[in-house]
Amino acid sequence: MKFSIDKKDEFSKARAGVLETDHGTIQTPIFMPVGTVGTVKAVHQRELEEDIKAQIILGNTYHLYLRPGTDILHKAGGLHKFMNWSKPMLTDSGGFQVFSLASSRKKSEDGVKFKSHIDGSYHMFTPEKSMEIQRYIGADIFMAFDELTGIPAKYHDAKRAMHVTHRWLERCKTWLDNNPEYYGHKQSLFPIVQGNDFKDLRKESAKYIADFGADGNAIGGLSVGEPEPIMYEMTDIVTEILPQDKPRYLMGVGTPWNIIECIALGVDMFDCVMPTRNARNAMLFTWNGVINIKNAKWKDCYEPLDPSGTSYVDSYYTKAYVRHLFNAGESLGKQIASIHNLAFYLDLVRVAREHILAGDFAQWKEQIVPQLKQRL
Ligand code: GUN
Repeated sequence: MKFSIDKKDEFSKARAGVLETDHGTIQTPIFMPVGTVGTVKAVHQRELEEDIKAQIILGNTYHLYLRPGTDILHKAGGLHKFMNWSKPMLTDSGGFQVFSLASSRKKSEDGVKFKSHIDGSYHMFTPEKSMEIQRYIGADIFMAFDELTGIPAKYHDAKRAMHVTHRWLERCKTWLDNNPEYYGHKQSLFPIVQGNDFKDLRKESAKYIADFGADGNAIGGLSVGEPEPIMYEMTDIVTEILPQDKPRYLMGVGTPWNIIECIALGVDMFDCVMPTRNARNAMLFTWNGVINIKNAKWKDCYEPLDPSGTSYVDSYYTKAYVRHLFNAGESLGKQIASIHNLAFYLDLVRVAREHILAGDFAQWKEQIVPQLKQRL
């Protein structure tokens, strides 16, 4: 995996880069649509590639292990082949999902024992197990198995979880070093900075991760309900320390304005369920602000769904029609809204990249952030 930087912004920490993987190149900053169980919900792979222009998507170890299971994935030749997606892919490690989805977790130094949210069966994830499952899935980028604490947390608990995360990282690496790739493409491990909202812990974790020397690095444990200024402050502290010449991935973030603000803080990669999850709840993100398409004000609005949108759905359908679909409970409404939102998120990072290259990113950010936050 190779990362090169085309341009660094003079007035912020933003960078425009290119990340090369065996499944193709990714222009950064990038947004990665979330395909938890091997599908970006309500969106065809062909739409993702040709219309939304996704360059990399995400899968989840926790979900794919529970269903369909590693045996089915391995026999298919990995998730790329199983779902027919030939571009880059990243898998989260299960750390976050075990903490947010599974019931009755039992943490130990060895790993986490948990109860499946699907059928109540018991399972154990360790760093080694997470790596083994990620090998079967076969993404281009694996995430390290980490432990997080919600915000707020006690200092003592946040510190312990951070140190566990560092020890688990070494175990992930050892396992990968001793167990070669399946499917014949390079698979890189990204470690995750933790440390909750404690500045000294964030610095300590960022230094540890920087010294680890991975192909890319992630910032975790944010966007868990903390105020936005805290998310930005922690991100700022961490990007000061993480290597300049490696991609930085901020996990689970966020709104369109969060993404623009964090690009300015030196983040290159993002993922979030927001564009797809909120789409299924009738929320559309646009360059002019946020729309609730169920609102009565759109009932006879026969204008295009989004005149400034880049997807075919934006000019193909009207606001009144999509509102009708939602009100009638038709699944096509959710599909159209999901395609629209993802195309918008990809357009957002593409335009941000153009402004970094043009040298006016910081100026553009000041103008665009208030516009993105408007409620229409
Ligand atoms: N997704 C969002 N935040 C996190 C995190 O801190 N760790 C992991 N593994 N996944 C995440």
